[in-house]
Amino acid sequence: MIALVGLPGGGKSTVGRQLAKRIKARFIDSDAVLEERIGMPIRLFFEQHGECLFRDHEEAVIDELTSQATAGAPLVIATGGGVVLRPANRQHLRERATVIYLRSTPEELFRRLRHDTQRPLLQVKDPMARLRELYEQRHPLYEETAHHCIDTGRPSVGALVNMIVTELGLAELSPPEA
Ligand code: S3P
Repeated sequence: MIALVGLPGGGKSTVGRQLAKRIKARFIDSDAVLEERIGMPIRLFFEQHGECLFRDHEEAVIDELTSQATAGAPLVIATGGGVVLRPANRQHLRERATVIYLRSTPEELFRRLRHDTQRPLLQVKDPMARLRELYEQRHPLYEETAHHCIDTGRPSVGALVNMIVTELGLAELSPPEA
């Protein structure tokens, strides 16, 4: 089981989906599972119930997803950016999955997320300052949780997938499709 962690907008879902395709794994986006469970968009849930209750649901979903039997088809999980805030999530991810930190700078994320309206934590006056804060707070937690770190910087999604496949030693098992 491979899990991707990192700040919002770093490409966890896009890269995760492509990676799963490449290594013939199943792909699960934990935020999508959460939205199904809470029955509404995450942004609305934050407004109505607050972040703490959201984190409770997130913790339960991460526990369940990482407890799935890994026999059979491998699994790639894209997680929400705040997943590392709870120690239980950090522990479950680190012990049960191979965790990859997609590291992006706040500047890069700002360029990508300038027009985003769905991420509750970025609906503030100064999203750049917020991204810097989130980076400072979370970067050490992503590092603590992850077994591998990949810089998202310039490479395309395809190049990032290649880097992950090489880093995990999966290259021989899953050549790129012609
Ligand atoms: C969050 C990131 C979101 C989502 C929720 C909280 C965060 O996921 O889980 O809005 O705390 O950074 P993405 O990282 O996929 O945007």
